[in-house]
Amino acid sequence: MTKKNKPPYVKPIIAKISFTDTDTVKGLYLKIPAVREVDGHPVEKLLTEYGSPLYVVSEASLRHGYRNMFEAFSKRYEKTVIAYSYKTNYLSGICAILHHEGAWAEVVSGFEYEMAKRLEIAGEKIIFNGPYKKPAELNRAFSDGAAVNIDSPDEYRIAEQVAETLGRTARVGVRVNMQLNYPAWDKFGFSLENGKAYEICRLISRHRYLQLTGLHCHVGTYVIDLGIYRRAIENLISLAVKIRETLGIEITYLDIGGGFPSSNTLHSQLMPGETMSPTPDQYADVICDIISKKAGEFNEQPLLILEPGRSVVDESMVLLSRVIAVKERDGGSRFAIIDAGVNLLPTAYYYKHAISSNRNAQEKTERVDIFGPLCMQVDVIRRDVMLPRIQTGDILTIKNVGAYNFSQSMPFIFPRPAVVLVNNGNAEVLRRAETYDDLKGLERVPERLLPAESI
Ligand SMILES: Cc1ncc(COP(=O)(O)O)c(C=O)c1O
Repeated sequence: MTKKNKPPYVKPIIAKISFTDTDTVKGLYLKIPAVREVDGHPVEKLLTEYGSPLYVVSEASLRHGYRNMFEAFSKRYEKTVIAYSYKTNYLSGICAILHHEGAWAEVVSGFEYEMAKRLEIAGEKIIFNGPYKKPAELNRAFSDGAAVNIDSPDEYRIAEQVAETLGRTARVGVRVNMQLNYPAWDKFGFSLENGKAYEICRLISRHRYLQLTGLHCHVGTYVIDLGIYRRAIENLISLAVKIRETLGIEITYLDIGGGFPSSNTLHSQLMPGETMSPTPDQYADVICDIISKKAGEFNEQPLLILEPGRSVVDESMVLLSRVIAVKERDGGSRFAIIDAGVNLLPTAYYYKHAISSNRNAQEKTERVDIFGPLCMQVDVIRRDVMLPRIQTGDILTIKNVGAYNFSQSMPFIFPRPAVVLVNNGNAEVLRRAETYDDLKGLERVPERLLPAESI
């Protein structure tokens, strides 16, 4: 550029932008489109038919969440299986859809095991994890041929007895923990570093009925560090090789657990979650590259088991909720109270959930706090959310609520609402709204405490 055609110097200015007024600033962050439907189903109609609040599951998005994970891994390493982590969301309809896609079941209690059995999942397609498995549950799992990952020396002793009583071969794996993150996830399984993981494998190898078939680990949740998975799979493979060389046992499955993030944003994250998290392809690249290269160390390629929960199911569900009151504080800021509380959305404690309104995006935008209807100060759904000027009666769509909300929700002050599945123009109830009798019908008042006339 010559001196002649150089543009004239313009003094920079710092101007205050009002983020409360879309009429003056129509920037990237203020284009908040109205959300009036879920997969083509008008939110107003859904609430009229099924009541408010309402959980809505998108079947298309659930299937997409599964396929995204499965295809990323199976195209790189064919012997991949996804065992869906039931506790993430064990609504039977959701598990059934995932099984329809080909998922196995990963369960962590006898209660969850029963859910898988009622969905007619074969024992060989159930992975039984968790620190508390009762003797009768182990007995059932061994008899069914499920893969039971042993969590502690105490559990090993129970497993030994159960297998003795059964008098037949019982498949077991070992849960291994490793120093990969801080604080380390060392509550579960046997330590790799202090040799306890190898030691328990040695004990199992000597048992006449217990058959060591797999190694398992689960490195945390919302793990966005690819290096953690790289080290985890390397460690499992090294242990499997040592077991073959020293104990003469061939490990047939390596279970890397779950822990993959969804697109939600944590309170601690400055940038949106989806910009911070690796994609399923990136996780698969790291994990499958290592296992494929080392497959030669095994007589037969081991099965790679993944146990994702959050990454499969989080984005498949929204919570619809109606604004029931709007208040103004001294100073002019406003906040809204909606009819869904943190008892329905426990992830509000750690996620900044994306929230949209059904109100026209062209209207004035404001920054508001959203509270739930519980008579508790901690009932905060989201602070500082930009929405078209909020009014009583608006319908808010709280997005990406599929993981760890319904299964950890509780009836508190209000019974829980219905869950509806939307698919191809159909809406089907997965769980009806709870009633007074559903909840209070479980209780008994000792006769001596009943009002006198009713005795
Ligand atoms: C053993 C095991 N596997 C899988 C999962 C699923 O984890 P995520 O939802 O983070 O994928 C969990 C959850 O804590 C778990 O404990």
